[in-house]
Amino acid sequence: MKYSWNVVSEVMRLTPPIMGAYREAIVDINYGGYHIPKGWKFYWNTGLTSLDSEIFPNATSLEPSRFEGVGPAPYTYIPFGGGPRMCVGKEFARLEILIFLHILIRKFNWKLLIPNEKVIYDPMPTPLEGLPISLQPHNY
Ligand code: HEM
Repeated sequence: MKYSWNVVSEVMRLTPPIMGAYREAIVDINYGGYHIPKGWKFYWNTGLTSLDSEIFPNATSLEPSRFEGVGPAPYTYIPFGGGPRMCVGKEFARLEILIFLHILIRKFNWKLLIPNEKVIYDPMPTPLEGLPISLQPHNY
């Protein structure tokens, strides 16, 4: 299910489920012309790199092929975070999502009842109308 995961990865690049998290500087850091003293708290953001068109050309278009081969450069695509505190549930989440998609696609025809429904961050991405869909079993 490599291609399915490439599609899911691309959806998470465009709409990261988690916007970011906090870190504390354990040493003084100089980065991009800024000095961050030891002890300061700061926030890293998933969308800043995953929607940067210098890193991902045509950044707003859905192109699952971005994840073929070696995929994005390290620390450019970080929906699950990165480093020692990276999401420990990543592989479990992957399994859940792929099983859900497999059952949905193999058993049902489905369509969105509100195409282009607005998605707001609250703080996670949330379809404004609850994402109503119509489902019909293949053998109906
Ligand atoms: C699409 C689904 C998920 C996404 C996008 C996601 C994303 C994240 C992110 C961004 C972090 C912070 C990583 C960092 O600070 O570098 C995190 C941490 C964590 N996640 Fe997930 N997560 C998902 C599913 C899950 C699931 C299913 C579980 C457990 C069954 C889980 C358990 C955890 C735990 C325990 C941490 C804290 C890890 C630590 O601080 O050492 N996550 N996740």
